[in-house]
Amino acid sequence: MDLTVSNGEGIDSWQEVTLVYNAALRQMETKMAILNDEFQHVHQYNPIEHIKARIKTPESIVKKLKRQGYESTIDNMVKYVNDMAGIRIICSFTSDIYRIADMISEQKDIRVIGVKDYITYPKASGYKSYHMIITVPVYLSDRIVDTKVEIQIRTVAMDFWASLEHKIHYKFEGDAPQHIREELVECARMVSDLDAKMLSLNDEILELSREENR
Ligand code: GTP
Ligand code: MG
Repeated sequence: MDLTVSNGEGIDSWQEVTLVYNAALRQMETKMAILNDEFQHVHQYNPIEHIKARIKTPESIVKKLKRQGYESTIDNMVKYVNDMAGIRIICSFTSDIYRIADMISEQKDIRVIGVKDYITYPKASGYKSYHMIITVPVYLSDRIVDTKVEIQIRTVAMDFWASLEHKIHYKFEGDAPQHIREELVECARMVSDLDAKMLSLNDEILELSREENR
Protein backbone atom coordinates (compact mmCIF):
# COMPACT_ATOMS: atom_id res chain seq x y z
CA MET A 1 0.00 0.00 0.00
CA ASP A 2 1.37 3.35 -1.02
CA LEU A 3 -0.35 6.09 0.92
CA THR A 4 1.81 9.06 1.92
CA VAL A 5 1.58 10.01 5.59
CA SER A 6 1.35 13.66 6.64
CA ASN A 7 2.65 14.99 9.96
CA GLY A 8 -0.17 17.44 10.54
CA GLU A 9 -2.90 17.10 13.07
CA GLY A 10 -5.80 14.71 12.71
CA ILE A 11 -5.49 11.20 11.41
CA ASP A 12 -1.91 10.64 10.34
CA SER A 13 -1.17 6.97 9.90
CA TRP A 14 -2.79 4.05 8.10
CA GLN A 15 -3.14 2.15 11.40
CA GLU A 16 -4.90 5.10 13.00
CA VAL A 17 -7.17 5.53 9.98
CA THR A 18 -8.25 1.89 10.10
CA LEU A 19 -8.79 2.11 13.83
CA VAL A 20 -10.98 5.21 13.59
CA TYR A 21 -13.08 3.98 10.65
CA ASN A 22 -13.56 0.57 12.26
CA ALA A 23 -14.70 2.30 15.45
CA ALA A 24 -17.19 4.39 13.43
CA LEU A 25 -18.59 1.24 11.82
CA ARG A 26 -18.92 -0.47 15.18
CA GLN A 27 -20.80 2.53 16.54
CA MET A 28 -23.18 2.51 13.60
CA GLU A 29 -23.76 -1.25 13.87
CA THR A 30 -24.60 -0.86 17.56
CA LYS A 31 -26.91 2.09 16.88
CA MET A 32 -28.74 0.03 14.24
CA ALA A 33 -29.03 -3.00 16.52
CA ILE A 34 -30.54 -0.79 19.25
CA LEU A 35 -33.06 0.76 16.84
CA ASN A 36 -34.01 -2.70 15.60
CA ASP A 37 -34.52 -4.03 19.16
CA GLU A 38 -36.57 -1.00 20.13
CA PHE A 39 -38.66 -1.32 17.00
CA GLN A 40 -39.32 -4.96 17.81
CA HIS A 41 -40.40 -3.93 21.31
CA VAL A 42 -42.78 -1.18 20.13
CA HIS A 43 -44.11 -2.52 16.82
CA GLN A 44 -43.50 -6.29 17.17
CA TYR A 45 -41.37 -6.55 14.08
CA ASN A 46 -37.77 -6.02 12.93
CA PRO A 47 -37.37 -3.47 10.13
CA ILE A 48 -33.75 -4.57 9.60
CA GLU A 49 -33.17 -7.98 7.99
CA HIS A 50 -29.40 -7.77 8.18
CA ILE A 51 -26.43 -5.44 8.08
CA LYS A 52 -23.13 -5.63 6.22
CA ALA A 53 -20.19 -3.42 7.08
CA ARG A 54 -16.86 -3.03 5.32
CA ILE A 55 -13.74 -0.87 5.19
CA LYS A 56 -12.55 0.07 1.68
CA THR A 57 -9.42 -1.82 0.63
CA PRO A 58 -6.19 0.17 0.16
CA GLU A 59 -6.10 -0.84 -3.55
CA SER A 60 -9.57 0.52 -4.11
CA ILE A 61 -8.80 3.75 -2.21
CA VAL A 62 -5.72 4.40 -4.36
CA LYS A 63 -7.75 3.66 -7.52
CA LYS A 64 -10.55 6.03 -6.50
CA LEU A 65 -8.16 8.89 -5.61
CA LYS A 66 -6.32 8.43 -8.89
CA ARG A 67 -9.63 8.51 -10.82
CA GLN A 68 -10.51 11.81 -9.14
CA GLY A 69 -7.04 13.20 -9.89
CA TYR A 70 -5.75 13.25 -6.32
CA GLU A 71 -2.43 12.01 -4.92
CA SER A 72 -2.62 8.99 -2.64
CA THR A 73 -2.21 10.67 0.74
CA ILE A 74 -3.98 10.02 4.03
CA ASP A 75 -5.22 13.64 4.01
CA ASN A 76 -6.81 13.28 0.56
CA MET A 77 -8.34 9.98 1.53
CA VAL A 78 -10.00 11.40 4.66
CA LYS A 79 -11.15 14.46 2.69
CA TYR A 80 -12.31 12.98 -0.61
CA VAL A 81 -13.17 9.31 -0.11
CA ASN A 82 -16.63 9.34 1.42
CA ASP A 83 -17.04 5.58 1.46
CA MET A 84 -13.92 4.58 3.44
CA ALA A 85 -16.33 3.04 5.94
CA GLY A 86 -19.51 1.61 4.46
CA ILE A 87 -22.54 0.04 6.04
CA ARG A 88 -25.38 -1.58 4.12
CA ILE A 89 -28.72 -1.99 5.82
CA ILE A 90 -31.07 -4.53 4.25
CA CYS A 91 -34.73 -4.34 5.17
CA SER A 92 -37.96 -6.07 4.13
CA PHE A 93 -40.12 -3.23 2.85
CA THR A 94 -39.59 0.03 0.98
CA SER A 95 -41.36 1.91 3.79
CA ASP A 96 -38.73 0.61 6.25
CA ILE A 97 -36.02 2.37 4.23
CA TYR A 98 -37.35 5.86 4.94
CA ARG A 99 -38.19 4.93 8.51
CA ILE A 100 -34.60 3.84 9.14
CA ALA A 101 -33.17 6.89 7.31
CA ASP A 102 -35.28 9.20 9.50
CA MET A 103 -34.26 7.44 12.69
CA ILE A 104 -30.59 7.86 11.71
CA SER A 105 -30.95 11.56 10.81
CA GLU A 106 -32.72 12.31 14.09
CA GLN A 107 -29.83 11.08 16.25
CA LYS A 108 -28.17 14.13 17.86
CA ASP A 109 -24.55 12.99 17.47
CA ILE A 110 -24.96 12.09 13.80
CA ARG A 111 -24.47 14.76 11.13
CA VAL A 112 -25.93 14.07 7.71
CA ILE A 113 -23.57 15.39 5.03
CA GLY A 114 -25.45 14.21 1.97
CA VAL A 115 -28.31 12.04 0.77
CA LYS A 116 -28.94 10.39 -2.61
CA ASP A 117 -32.40 8.94 -3.02
CA TYR A 118 -32.07 6.35 -5.78
CA ILE A 119 -35.43 4.88 -4.69
CA THR A 120 -37.42 7.91 -5.83
CA TYR A 121 -34.91 8.56 -8.63
CA PRO A 122 -33.42 5.22 -9.74
CA LYS A 123 -30.23 5.23 -11.84
CA ALA A 124 -30.47 4.56 -15.60
CA SER A 125 -29.04 1.10 -14.88
CA GLY A 126 -32.13 0.38 -12.78
CA TYR A 127 -30.20 0.68 -9.50
CA LYS A 128 -32.32 1.51 -6.47
CA SER A 129 -31.06 2.28 -2.96
CA TYR A 130 -31.09 5.10 -0.42
CA HIS A 131 -27.62 6.53 0.23
CA MET A 132 -26.51 8.73 3.10
CA ILE A 133 -23.10 10.12 3.98
CA ILE A 134 -22.99 10.89 7.67
CA THR A 135 -20.41 11.59 10.33
CA VAL A 136 -20.39 9.91 13.71
CA PRO A 137 -18.09 11.03 16.56
CA VAL A 138 -15.36 8.57 17.55
CA TYR A 139 -14.02 9.19 21.06
CA LEU A 140 -10.26 8.63 21.29
CA SER A 141 -8.21 9.05 24.50
CA ASP A 142 -7.40 12.70 23.81
CA ARG A 143 -9.88 13.92 21.17
CA ILE A 144 -13.05 13.32 19.23
CA VAL A 145 -12.85 12.51 15.50
CA ASP A 146 -16.03 13.06 13.47
CA THR A 147 -15.80 10.16 11.03
CA LYS A 148 -17.56 9.74 7.69
CA VAL A 149 -19.62 6.63 7.01
CA GLU A 150 -21.51 5.80 3.80
CA ILE A 151 -24.86 4.18 4.53
CA GLN A 152 -26.78 2.29 1.85
CA ILE A 153 -30.32 1.28 2.72
CA ARG A 154 -32.25 -1.08 0.43
CA THR A 155 -34.75 -3.93 0.44
CA VAL A 156 -33.78 -7.61 0.16
CA ALA A 157 -35.05 -7.57 -3.45
CA MET A 158 -33.06 -4.43 -4.36
CA ASP A 159 -29.99 -6.01 -2.78
CA PHE A 160 -30.42 -9.17 -4.83
CA TRP A 161 -30.60 -7.08 -8.02
CA ALA A 162 -27.61 -4.90 -7.04
CA SER A 163 -25.32 -7.85 -6.32
CA LEU A 164 -26.13 -9.57 -9.63
CA GLU A 165 -25.73 -6.29 -11.54
CA HIS A 166 -22.42 -5.65 -9.77
CA LYS A 167 -21.14 -9.11 -10.78
CA ILE A 168 -22.15 -8.53 -14.41
CA HIS A 169 -20.65 -5.02 -14.41
CA TYR A 170 -17.38 -6.45 -13.06
CA LYS A 171 -17.32 -9.36 -15.51
CA PHE A 172 -17.77 -7.11 -18.57
CA GLU A 173 -15.59 -4.34 -17.09
CA GLY A 174 -18.51 -1.91 -17.22
CA ASP A 175 -19.32 -2.68 -20.86
CA ALA A 176 -22.04 -5.36 -20.76
CA PRO A 177 -23.83 -6.25 -24.03
CA GLN A 178 -26.93 -4.16 -24.79
CA HIS A 179 -29.43 -7.02 -24.34
CA ILE A 180 -28.06 -7.86 -20.89
CA ARG A 181 -28.34 -4.21 -19.83
CA GLU A 182 -31.92 -4.14 -21.08
CA GLU A 183 -32.78 -7.36 -19.23
CA LEU A 184 -31.33 -5.86 -16.06
CA VAL A 185 -33.52 -2.77 -16.41
CA GLU A 186 -36.50 -5.10 -16.89
CA CYS A 187 -35.48 -7.08 -13.76
CA ALA A 188 -35.24 -3.79 -11.81
CA ARG A 189 -38.83 -3.04 -12.84
CA MET A 190 -39.88 -6.51 -11.60
CA VAL A 191 -38.05 -5.89 -8.34
CA SER A 192 -40.03 -2.66 -7.86
CA ASP A 193 -43.30 -4.47 -8.60
CA LEU A 194 -42.40 -7.24 -6.16
CA ASP A 195 -41.49 -4.71 -3.44
CA ALA A 196 -44.79 -2.88 -3.97
CA LYS A 197 -46.82 -6.14 -3.88
CA MET A 198 -45.08 -7.43 -0.75
CA LEU A 199 -45.66 -4.09 0.98
CA SER A 200 -49.40 -4.00 0.22
CA LEU A 201 -49.75 -7.65 1.20
CA ASN A 202 -48.01 -6.96 4.49
CA ASP A 203 -50.19 -3.88 5.13
CA GLU A 204 -53.28 -6.01 4.53
CA ILE A 205 -52.09 -8.67 6.99
CA LEU A 206 -51.28 -6.03 9.62
CA GLU A 207 -54.75 -4.52 9.19
CA LEU A 208 -56.37 -7.97 9.64
CA SER A 209 -54.48 -8.71 12.82
CA ARG A 210 -55.36 -5.24 14.15
CA GLU A 211 -59.06 -6.01 13.56
CA GLU A 212 -58.70 -9.37 15.32
CA ASN A 213 -57.26 -7.62 18.37
CA ARG A 214 -60.07 -5.07 18.57
P1 GTP B 1 -18.67 5.82 -6.24
O1 GTP B 1 -17.57 6.69 -6.74
O2 GTP B 1 -18.77 4.51 -6.96
O3 GTP B 1 -18.64 5.60 -4.75
O4 GTP B 1 -20.04 6.56 -6.63
P2 GTP B 1 -20.61 8.00 -6.32
O5 GTP B 1 -19.67 8.82 -5.52
O6 GTP B 1 -21.12 8.55 -7.62
O7 GTP B 1 -21.82 7.65 -5.36
P3 GTP B 1 -23.09 6.77 -5.62
O8 GTP B 1 -23.96 7.11 -4.46
O9 GTP B 1 -23.67 6.94 -6.97
O10 GTP B 1 -22.58 5.26 -5.52
C1 GTP B 1 -21.96 4.77 -4.37
C2 GTP B 1 -22.09 3.25 -4.28
O11 GTP B 1 -23.42 2.84 -4.61
C3 GTP B 1 -21.23 2.45 -5.20
O12 GTP B 1 -19.95 2.28 -4.68
C4 GTP B 1 -22.02 1.11 -5.25
O13 GTP B 1 -21.83 0.37 -4.07
C5 GTP B 1 -23.44 1.59 -5.27
N1 GTP B 1 -23.95 1.79 -6.64
C6 GTP B 1 -24.15 2.97 -7.27
N2 GTP B 1 -24.64 2.79 -8.50
C7 GTP B 1 -24.76 1.45 -8.70
C8 GTP B 1 -25.22 0.61 -9.79
O14 GTP B 1 -25.63 1.08 -10.87
N3 GTP B 1 -25.19 -0.73 -9.58
C9 GTP B 1 -24.76 -1.29 -8.42
N4 GTP B 1 -24.77 -2.62 -8.30
N5 GTP B 1 -24.32 -0.56 -7.39
C10 GTP B 1 -24.31 0.80 -7.51
MG1 MG C 1 -18.31 3.54 -3.66
